[in-house]
Amino acid sequence: MSQRSCLSVILAAGEGTRMKSAMPKVLHSIAGLPMVAHVVKAAEAAGATGLALVIGHGAEEMRKAAQKFAPKAETFVQEERLGTAHAVLAAREAISKGYDDILVMFGDTPLIDAAALAAARQKLADGAAIAVIGFRPPNPTGYGRLIEEGGRLVAIREEKDCSAAERTIGFCNAGMMAVAGRHALALLDRVGNRNAKGEYYLTDIVEIASATGLTVVATETGFESALGINNRAELAEAEAIWQARRRREAMLGGVTLIAPETVYFSHDTEIGADTIVEPNVWFGLGVKIAAGATIHAFSHMTGTTIGENCEVGPFARLRPGAHLRKKAKVGNFCEVKQATVEEGAKVNHLTYVGDARVGAGANIGAGTITCNYDGYSKFFTDIGEGAFIGSNSSLVAPVTIGSRSYIASGSVITESVPDDALAFGRARQKTLPGKGKELRERFASVAAAKKKAAE
Ligand code: UD1
Ligand code: CA
Repeated sequence: MSQRSCLSVILAAGEGTRMKSAMPKVLHSIAGLPMVAHVVKAAEAAGATGLALVIGHGAEEMRKAAQKFAPKAETFVQEERLGTAHAVLAAREAISKGYDDILVMFGDTPLIDAAALAAARQKLADGAAIAVIGFRPPNPTGYGRLIEEGGRLVAIREEKDCSAAERTIGFCNAGMMAVAGRHALALLDRVGNRNAKGEYYLTDIVEIASATGLTVVATETGFESALGINNRAELAEAEAIWQARRRREAMLGGVTLIAPETVYFSHDTEIGADTIVEPNVWFGLGVKIAAGATIHAFSHMTGTTIGENCEVGPFARLRPGAHLRKKAKVGNFCEVKQATVEEGAKVNHLTYVGDARVGAGANIGAGTITCNYDGYSKFFTDIGEGAFIGSNSSLVAPVTIGSRSYIASGSVITESVPDDALAFGRARQKTLPGKGKELRERFASVAAAKKKAAE
């Protein structure tokens, strides 16, 4: 099948009014990726070599987004929404280039899997003119019914146009189909709009093809793969299904999830074997974790790379550009942004490390802050290997802390510190014996005098 060329036509012109959103429906995300981009990924995984995106509502926004998730896609604007066949024909120019297979897909069906698409394409390779992807929803109301005769598909009837008998059929149209490229335009051009909705139905090509003696078949996929998203409740449902699939894949890949239902992945999360993830962890976009890490509960990370055998959290926040090299540790209530924590370094408690390097084996005391921003620009803090930063220190960037140097607790460091030095950046302590007792007596007599005067 791989030698057959394939164009995926993705319909995404709908407004999606039920999303109640200023953003086009298909740009709403699942696992941090627009739903239409999931559809593109599935098409590519099924071997699509060309991509045609049919857009309408929010065309500008869609075009801009498409440049990111499908830079090679051609976009076609469907000016008026006259039905799914009309929408496919908006991409006439792409279809007429002569692909072997045309895969028609909906932009709002994000869980469609490549296997279902590939199975439909296989039917074309075996000689069918059309292969429709069917499914059996728990409740078929609203879906087109697949009408079969002797293993062949003879028609798809939209719910509104069904007879009472046809309405009892449980096998429904998932919406997606594979059409032989050499027949596609001729079939589509014959579709009319004499039906209950007055629309040009893509589904009508089934009856047209089968009446002319072409072979039309149905394949079957799971209900989840065909789930269409119309509102935000369905969006959340699709997200839950996606997450459940991904968690399972992670666990089967050697990752321990203690409470899988509380761990959230992004579409691009990479996580190595023998990593243990405790409950309530959020992996935002762009997280890569090597093998053997422990991610303690309630940690949140985005744009982060974590090396082998690192330990993170509980309650760690790793922001874009955080890079932990092997055996590094970022502990509770610490935030790391645009900074490298080198091998074996420890950032254990209540600390902010931003725009910085923490050298190998360095130890950052509780409450350390890299003061990286003056309200206008960001500055860098470089902490050398094996340095020890005493608790509650402020390192005012730009500043370099030498290797193996020692910063006294509570320091405000504004000047660079050479290797092996000890730096204090705070006032010396003064202790006055007996002075505490004297102070108490004085304050007590002042308070007593006030009380008396008020009586
Ligand atoms: C469609 C199918 C139905 C199937 C169901 C599965 C047709 C005629 N019916 O019905 O058999 O069971 O999907 O969910 O195909 N679109 C455009 N331009 C248009 C019309 C639609 O881009 O002019 C896009 C929509 O944005 C949407 C998709 O095509 O992504 C499907 O259209 P929709 O109107 O939702 O079709 P259904 O009535 O759900
Ligand atoms: Ca629909």
